[in-house]
Amino acid sequence: MSERAEVDGPRLLRSLAAFAAIGATPAGGVNRQALSPGDRLARRLLAERALSRGFAVFQDAAANLFLRRAGADDTLPAVLIGSHLDSQPTGGRFDGALGTLSAFEVLEALEDAGVSTVRPVEVVAFTNEEGSRYAPGCMGSMAFAGLHPISEWQAAMAPDGERLEHELAATLGALPEATMRHARPDIFAFVELHIEQGPVLERENVPIGVVTAIQGTKWLEVTFTGEAAHAGTTPREFRKDAMAAAAHAIAALQATVMAEDPQARLTVGRLSLEPGSVNVIPRQVTFTIDLRHPDGIALADLEALVRTTCAIAGEQWGCTTAIRPLLDMAPGTFEPALISAIETACRSRGIACRQMTSGAFHDALFVNRIAPSAMIFIPCRDGISHNEAEFVEDRHVLLGAATLLDLTLDLANRTDALAGR
Ligand code: GLV
Ligand code: MN
Ligand code: MN
Repeated sequence: MSERAEVDGPRLLRSLAAFAAIGATPAGGVNRQALSPGDRLARRLLAERALSRGFAVFQDAAANLFLRRAGADDTLPAVLIGSHLDSQPTGGRFDGALGTLSAFEVLEALEDAGVSTVRPVEVVAFTNEEGSRYAPGCMGSMAFAGLHPISEWQAAMAPDGERLEHELAATLGALPEATMRHARPDIFAFVELHIEQGPVLERENVPIGVVTAIQGTKWLEVTFTGEAAHAGTTPREFRKDAMAAAAHAIAALQATVMAEDPQARLTVGRLSLEPGSVNVIPRQVTFTIDLRHPDGIALADLEALVRTTCAIAGEQWGCTTAIRPLLDMAPGTFEPALISAIETACRSRGIACRQMTSGAFHDALFVNRIAPSAMIFIPCRDGISHNEAEFVEDRHVLLGAATLLDLTLDLANRTDALAGR
């Protein structure tokens, strides 16, 4: 006998707490970077839970992890739900974990209620969404969507000195009970629940955001190379100061990019220099630029501005300038039929929602290339994310998970194609 499936709130909150303990930082956040031992532990915990509930466990060559509950017609394309389990080095407890664990709660809720669905439902935890240990972000979902084979990044080196190739093999090897998937399964639709990571929902007191689009992102790595020289004896005209060039470029970009276009975002998040001695003029400075805009053409114009500004700064300080692209994500728009399905799910529970664009990138941006996709947002305190202080109210977690459950049930029982595809 089946009953109405409902999210088990206390179980989901316990689950979030259990995963937050893996890689927990003293300041209350999470450091569980992609393919690290902590990431492996989190994947293991999720896979063990899935096996104990009788769900099938798979992983693919990119170490994307899949947990499958069979459908009444298991040959039909699956409804895919989930997010990622990796975190920033000083990340919060919800970025990624919320969507992955809520998706698993959906599987458990269906199982508890004995509800069968026409289509199979799969939970996914994509590999390396954050991109902080190995750039670019969204490696797992890009590989899943067939945009880049994971082998393309094998030589990537983490700041801690580990090659991706080694860490990927260790991660795959740590889950021998998972069946290896060599071909991508057919996907009917993908839905990712996530925290907003911005201030809009909280400010407007709206518990659910229906994401219609994701803005574009480019990551660039800029290197100025000059000449190491004595700090005290070298006059201005002899200095080839890589740090001065970097400071000049960064200050010029910060003064123009966002000031001139309120939709633009520019961040210099990582900087290193050589040789790094108090009284030596820096020979080389390398820094990253994270550049975002909802409009792809405006984003390309911003990249051109970054290139010109850096070239001018390098020239002024006698340095060579090299710019290496690390990531290039075009903006994307989500499937209208899924957007309205989310709104219907909210309406039928009397939950207020509003449409919005995501300022953050997400795995759904890439899955959207191969299957209709959409995202559900919930508010986070003060809009803070990528920060150990990231906080979400329990009631919002439960509303987000309930919406995901209703939507999953709706999609997993549809036999007609989604409109527009
Ligand atoms: C995702 O982590 C992003 O940086 O947008
Ligand atoms: Mn995320
Ligand atoms: Mn993130």
